Amino acid sequence: MLNDNSELLHVGIDLGTSRSAISGSNGERFLVDSFVGWPVDMVARKVLKRSVLIGHEAVANRTMLDLHRPLERGLLKEGSEKDVEAVRELLKHLLGLVGVTNNGRIGTNRVRAVVGVPAAALRTNKQYLRNAMKGIVDSLMIVSEPFAVAYGLNALLHTMIIDIGAGTTDFCVMKGRYPTEEDQRTLTIAGDSVDSQLLKLMEERFPQANVTVFMVREWKEKFSYVGKPPLRASVTAPVKGVPTELDITNEVRSACETLVGPVIETMLDLLARVEPEFQERVRNNIILSGGGGLIRGLPQALEDALKQVGGGKVTYMQDPVFVGSDGGLALAMDAPDGDWERLSA
Ligand SMILES: Nc1ncnc2c1ncn2[C@@H]1O[C@H](COP(=O)(O)OP(=O)(O)O)[C@@H](O)[C@H]1O
Ligand SMILES: [Mg+2]
Repeated sequence: MLNDNSELLHVGIDLGTSRSAISGSNGERFLVDSFVGWPVDMVARKVLKRSVLIGHEAVANRTMLDLHRPLERGLLKEGSEKDVEAVRELLKHLLGLVGVTNNGRIGTNRVRAVVGVPAAALRTNKQYLRNAMKGIVDSLMIVSEPFAVAYGLNALLHTMIIDIGAGTTDFCVMKGRYPTEEDQRTLTIAGDSVDSQLLKLMEERFPQANVTVFMVREWKEKFSYVGKPPLRASVTAPVKGVPTELDITNEVRSACETLVGPVIETMLDLLARVEPEFQERVRNNIILSGGGGLIRGLPQALEDALKQVGGGKVTYMQDPVFVGSDGGLALAMDAPDGDWERLSA
């Protein structure tokens, strides 16, 4: 926690569909599940003794809560005041974790926050985010999540970031300046859609088995792959109440491979729009981030597709958890006064 006088506290926030992270210039880093819940009634309030629950706690107590995942599908759902309020609570919670109390001040410290969001949310819902941050921080910069990742990796020139999150897959081509609309794309084919696909495939193949999307997501994260199977995906699920071993190797591949076509198509399309003399450099600097970037065989599948346009190199982030928030923090520390938006409380 900071306590000296008029120092600025800089923070980078990665506002994800499934998880949100914050990195502060005071060295603090935190990760929170992007869930916010309010007690549904008097009984729930009596049990929980709290007016709002956030993150893992909210998920664990969900039967008592009006539960929101405010960035579902990468968008702050328009028109829903509850979701704007949920984003606000989530942001306040994240800032509280790094030591920010109220009104964007710790003592007299002022807070400057860079918030990374899916590119589509940036386009359609910037105003919602601004409202959510009012009175919480002093200065704000809203950027697309893959740009924050690029900044954190110092991959600023002739690179492409492909960030596969839960709600969206975000693409950004870096040209050595703040990216524009044309440099970015968002697909809603991402981790969540793979989960629903895997659930559907399992229901078809094992109609008697009892599985939920939460179970399926866990199995996917353990066994995910495309191309050649690296190992057999064997899981245990209740079939008519009896725990039974099921081989879901093929289902996992089919579900994960639903990402491959759309990601390749968008990647090639963005590449084709890069000025011809820089295309080769971009092709050789493609970076996969986000939880979905961990799918085994995915970098290889993308490289195979790049062969038809002259070849390229795809690398993936081994530990993608704080890369977006650290990038936001780096950006916050570097940005001159004029790049900030002042939010008066
Ligand atoms: N090893 C893995 N293989 C495949 N998908 C994974 C793996 N680990 C996490 N995921 C998926 O990545 C998504 C979360 O990624 P993340 O970058 O944290 O998303 P967001 O930024 O949207 O919060 C979820 O759909 C999760 O199931
Ligand atoms: Mg993310």
